[in-house]
Amino acid sequence: MCGIIGYTGKNQAMPVIVKGLETLEYRGYDSAGIALDKKEKFSVIKSEGKLENLIRKIESADVSSTAGIGHTRWATHGKPTETNAHPHTSENGMFCVVHNGIIENASVIKNELVKKGYSFVSETDTEVIPQLLSYHYDGNMLEAMRKTFMSFEGSFAVAVMCKDESDVIYAAKKQSPLIVGRGNGENLLASDVSALADKAETFAYLEDGEFAVVRKDSVEFYDMCLNHVTKNFEKNETQHAENTKGGFEHYMLKEIFEQPEKIRNLIKDKIKNGKIFLDEIAGLSLEIAKAEKLYIVACGSAYHAAMAGKYALEEFCRIPAEVDIASEFRYRNPPIDEKTLVVVISQSGETADTIAAMRLANSKGAFVTGIVNVLPSTIANECDYVIATKAGREVAVATTKGYTTQVVALYMLALHMASVRKTLSDKELEFYAEKIKEIPAQIETVLADCEKFEKFAGKYTDKNNIFFIGRNTDFAAASEGALKLKEISYINCTALPAGELKHGTIALVENGTPVIALCCNERLYKKTMSNIEEVVSRGAEIFLIRKETISHKLNCSEIVIPECIDIFSPVSEVIPLQLFAYFVAKKKGCNIDMPKNLAKSVTVE
Ligand code: G6P
Repeated sequence: MCGIIGYTGKNQAMPVIVKGLETLEYRGYDSAGIALDKKEKFSVIKSEGKLENLIRKIESADVSSTAGIGHTRWATHGKPTETNAHPHTSENGMFCVVHNGIIENASVIKNELVKKGYSFVSETDTEVIPQLLSYHYDGNMLEAMRKTFMSFEGSFAVAVMCKDESDVIYAAKKQSPLIVGRGNGENLLASDVSALADKAETFAYLEDGEFAVVRKDSVEFYDMCLNHVTKNFEKNETQHAENTKGGFEHYMLKEIFEQPEKIRNLIKDKIKNGKIFLDEIAGLSLEIAKAEKLYIVACGSAYHAAMAGKYALEEFCRIPAEVDIASEFRYRNPPIDEKTLVVVISQSGETADTIAAMRLANSKGAFVTGIVNVLPSTIANECDYVIATKAGREVAVATTKGYTTQVVALYMLALHMASVRKTLSDKELEFYAEKIKEIPAQIETVLADCEKFEKFAGKYTDKNNIFFIGRNTDFAAASEGALKLKEISYINCTALPAGELKHGTIALVENGTPVIALCCNERLYKKTMSNIEEVVSRGAEIFLIRKETISHKLNCSEIVIPECIDIFSPVSEVIPLQLFAYFVAKKKGCNIDMPKNLAKSVTVE
């Protein structure tokens, strides 16, 4: 989703802004732009498409300046054209703005301003910001900010430059993230900490309703009533190594291969002598013991992680676990009381719908546990308890290590809850804890066969529709596998519970229809095999993912994954699907790390 970077300091702004924009690329965007403070007027350069287009324009421009703002835009209001790209400037040239979020009442404000004689050049909601600032401005910038941002509904993270104040960047925030970084003789603003990498020594999150005034040698914060706010700055420990591909052709492949190490790192202090230690939720024991219901709420792949974790939570803890998509949950008045636990899952910790779901659950009195990768982040900061998934920075838009670490975190949560609720014996707890420890090695075995996937992938590049089927835990993995392939190869993929096929979708199966069948659940494999036979007899071509122990008489391509217990199989069985998606997309020549129309961090609803 949109990315913001701002710099003011002792050095040239342009290289810092371009590097920041490159770091923010992973969030997803379709146009980009910069504005430099050139004393007499702002120098604004924008372009459609990828950053290289912008950089080409910058190369032939006079870009000397020590302050500026930059933006990658993921279109919401208006097409991804150069005119709609940010920064946007007020008609009188006084204000220049970059914005992340959606001003929901923009059209009402725009109509008012048009009646007052203002004219607009873009189709964006953002353009009302510089225009309204110029309407309210009488020489006092903070007062103009207060009046302007008070009138907005929706979400915003905004960086503003004003012609009257050289080398100063103002910022405002509601719902969308914005971070202020402090360096040595230079200060910055960015949508995430990684974009501050080697410049900011410390950083602080801007909170909803706060303003920041960033100068080269000072940073000030104010609340909506313009009272001074004091903030604690944290040390910036972003590793530059996390911003590189480490010898892999794409971030996605690097991240797929990081999974065994990241899972080992996640479980290392938590599983000792066959026992689970989730100290971060120790304070929740009373609520866990008396809980009668559990909601797990998330979006995208995190939702699929919730689906995979649900089986372990219900099986181990004997508690109904309802999995919900955050954008649905937030508008459906779910019955929540003091006997309801709520878990939200988010890699980024910034997904707008998941944040809203967390706040809703909180407002109804539930204790919310967040399973989050990016710390600090809005969800990690606001929920009652946090289980960090420790996957490290994930750059590829299509999540891989983010997903598998979420699933493993849910397995550990399930065992922890089962131990508190005494629904598993010590021996059973020990057995399952040991099984979790086997997961990284199982993934390594699948990864060792990586080349095989490249061969298989060639057969699928010209397909328009692919079905993924499986039952129970296999269905959870099938859902994630279908999403992976769809996201990066643009092939329409549908995941179905294998038993549901005959209730409609089988009508689409004909000679040569590709069906990827997951058969790793030993308890149910005979049932899935019957469903596979049903599609084979209608001409489907099967690609089977099965466990070593599951035998069959099908004539089909297959990938065999190592032995693992059914309930934990969604982790190792998704690895072939990640690799399969990667190689299909690669053979199709797709932009694997930054698929079209998608964003890594979805900060609007
Ligand atoms: C976007 C990403 C997905 C991700 C989803 C939820 O759609 O492209 O990969 O699963 O958001 O993101 P979260 O950060 O909340 O896990």
